[in-house]
Amino acid sequence: MKKTVIITGGTAGIGKATALKFAQNGFNIVTTSRSEEKANKFMEEFKQLGFEATVYKVDVTNEDQVEKLISDTVEKYGSVDVLVNNSGIAGEPKFFAHTSKNNMRDMIETNVMGLYWGMRYGILQMLKQPTKGKIVNLASIAGLNGIEYGGEYGATKHAVVGMTKGAAVEHATSGITINAVAPGSILTDILNDVIASGSMTAEELGTIHPMKRTGTVEDIANAIYFLSSDECPFMTGVILPVDGGYTAR
Ligand SMILES: NC(=O)c1ccc[n+]([C@@H]2O[C@H](COP(=O)([O-])OP(=O)(O)OC[C@H]3O[C@@H](n4cnc5c(N)ncnc54)[C@H](OP(=O)(O)O)[C@@H]3O)[C@@H](O)[C@H]2O)c1
Repeated sequence: MKKTVIITGGTAGIGKATALKFAQNGFNIVTTSRSEEKANKFMEEFKQLGFEATVYKVDVTNEDQVEKLISDTVEKYGSVDVLVNNSGIAGEPKFFAHTSKNNMRDMIETNVMGLYWGMRYGILQMLKQPTKGKIVNLASIAGLNGIEYGGEYGATKHAVVGMTKGAAVEHATSGITINAVAPGSILTDILNDVIASGSMTAEELGTIHPMKRTGTVEDIANAIYFLSSDECPFMTGVILPVDGGYTAR
């Protein structure tokens, strides 16, 4: 039977590349966008590539909408085999305490609470399924190290690391694996905003890595797919850096 993956915020960037990777491997694709325009553009592109996807309108800061995302997916496809908690925001690219007061709150609502709702309702659903499931969260190198212009963002990504490890240990004997990827700099909208703000150039974002370049969305999608596959049944609570050597220093 075809497996089903939910990827939050998967109509652009890393999420979109991940949706394509899973589609190429025969999964039913469910993703989300708050924007009808982004959803339509994504579905059209997907169709042209010969794939289909279901896109629900979900704001991950809204608990009810996340709970409904899980129940609607189960109603349509029967199960949630893989959940990729990908939605996230970078906030204002400024030094710690130079940002507006709402910056931290907004990031906590999206990156921490949004991911928490996904994990909560994802785990509750997977526990009911005979085949259980796999969860992959989007952390960041800013969740493992200190990054300039990323103090507040880093705090939210350290929370993602904590939730991933804690939930993984708690559910280790349940048949559910919970892991995270920690990307380095990948040139998506999140970093295009940083570049547009003048805080860092695209070149500088690349040179922070020992490999002296930025990564690609496919680099991250491949790692997410691996952590969701049957190739790593003994891995849980892992925070996998995909960062051109950044965290090896
Ligand atoms: N790019 C990098 O260098 C990098 C590095 C480390 C970690 N990451 C992490 O990777 C993940 C994906 O980021 P990306 O680089 O692919 O950036 P992106 O293209 O901006 O994608 C982020 C997605 O998050 C969704 N999103 C934001 N707020 C949301 C909300 N309140 N509710 C639902 N969805 C929301 C957006 O979807 P809609 O607007 O369509 O709703 C958007 O498509 C994020 O968690 C990010 O922190 C990225």
